[in-house]
Amino acid sequence: MNVVTGNRFRSLVVLTGAGVSAESGLGTFRDKDGLWTQYDLNDVATPEGFMRNPALVHAFYNARRRNLLDAVPNAAHLALAELERQWPGDFLLVTQNVDDLHERAGSRDLLHMHGELRKIRCENCGDIVAWEADLDQATDCARCRVGGYLRPHVVWFGEMPLYMERVYAALEGCDLFLSIGTSGLVYPAAGFVAEVRRAGRAHTVELNLEASDGHSLFAERLYGPATEIVPAYVARLLGLQPQAS
Ligand code: OAD
Repeated sequence: MNVVTGNRFRSLVVLTGAGVSAESGLGTFRDKDGLWTQYDLNDVATPEGFMRNPALVHAFYNARRRNLLDAVPNAAHLALAELERQWPGDFLLVTQNVDDLHERAGSRDLLHMHGELRKIRCENCGDIVAWEADLDQATDCARCRVGGYLRPHVVWFGEMPLYMERVYAALEGCDLFLSIGTSGLVYPAAGFVAEVRRAGRAHTVELNLEASDGHSLFAERLYGPATEIVPAYVARLLGLQPQAS
């Protein structure tokens, strides 16, 4: 296993998944007791499922939104926000998470490739608005006034993830790629490490509770709870970097 020794990195891309928010009390998807062991993702995370049973889909996201409002960022979110503040070069945080714990921890340059739970979207007029209450089929869009078209602003299976052009440009140009708290089973995010390796010059690091599906593609691998390994890694990384003036 490689370790970072005396390197100076210029351009950093961080990918996060559900594992970074697990210790904030938000369930992951595929761990024991994960969301996809309790629900069929075809029912609650596909456009077809929404067409079949919108009430079930709204109930699923309403419950998750309520949980999120009670959750607080943990030490891993805070460490990543601090990393961004102190990072002297290019920085991009790409998250598969629909929670807003990174923002609440202070992260700024952040892309939610799977959308945001605290926003809703009108399929009729395209309006996207912040939303904290429960949502149902009876709610009218505040802009176009048409009912029945509002949905959570999240990406479902079979839909295009968001901001991919910007993400791939950053992956291609980075010299350090961190993948944190993700099982590496869902594409396109699962393919990011291969993309970075193809560009050929970045150091790649996996930080996770356990080895992910694509762990062998990472040059460096650190395993443990995110609240422990992420702050420790960030401290080590910032210790190696010249500070921003
Ligand atoms: P998963 O549930 O697939 O994987 C979570 C990963 O986090 C696993 O590898 C766990 O070992 C790890 N983990 C759990 N607790 C942790 C902790 N305390 N510290 C560090 N790591 C921990 O979640 P994702 O990989 O994020 O997409 O899932 C990717 C996508 O699949 C999600 O964005 C979602 C889901 O279906 C959509 O809904 C479109």
